Amino acid sequence: MSIMDQFASQTGFPSLTDLETALFACTACPLRDKAIGPTSYNGDPRSPLMLVGEGPGGVEDEYGVPLVGPSGQLLDKALARVGISRDRVYTSNVVKCRPAGNRTPTVEEGEFCAARWLDAEIALVQPKIIIALGSVALKYLYHAKARITADRGKWFRTRHDIAAIATYHPAYLLRLTGEQERKAKWEVVHDFEAAINELKTLAPNWNLKTDPPPDLLTLYADRREARKQSAKTGG
Ligand code: URA
Repeated sequence: MSIMDQFASQTGFPSLTDLETALFACTACPLRDKAIGPTSYNGDPRSPLMLVGEGPGGVEDEYGVPLVGPSGQLLDKALARVGISRDRVYTSNVVKCRPAGNRTPTVEEGEFCAARWLDAEIALVQPKIIIALGSVALKYLYHAKARITADRGKWFRTRHDIAAIATYHPAYLLRLTGEQERKAKWEVVHDFEAAINELKTLAPNWNLKTDPPPDLLTLYADRREARKQSAKTGG
């Protein structure tokens, strides 16, 4: 049995819908206390390309989906440059609940959360390629001592035995200016192009772009409203 099949048989979730229902009810760690609720995934679960971020910020906590706030907007721009739209990839996070004050989740928080949720998502989606966005995703998917500065742009196999490449997190790009910003943005584009090239062999028939791409905030407006209501009623 491949590592991937072993993961799949251990998830206990017959489908992503079952997984999402269980995820939304998760209270397994203290991060849940300060968040509106766990955030799940967005995009297409049939996609051969998975993007993994670190954890939700304020906008994601409101909408219940990953990477739709300022970092997500910048990510969308970078992806558009190489011909990818978010509805044609699967996007998720290592950590599902927003750490209070938008701090970076610790390695331990990542291990605890992803062992319950992200691993199961990966087993169900079975992506051909994963792009790790930033250090938290790199450390979880590769190893805890990996460094984004040293390891970005290099291919590695994840703990699930999937081909992966790490690139800078969009929140990092948002903090840069001048030449540093220009250089780092080019590196990100280069890393995305490397992933697209691999997909030409691994998933030649998958179309990575919808034109025009759907607006994610509109798509998830109902979920946002439901979360707002349930926060009000304490449910
Ligand atoms: N940063 C992430 O890594 N994920 C999100 O969902 C939002 C910001």
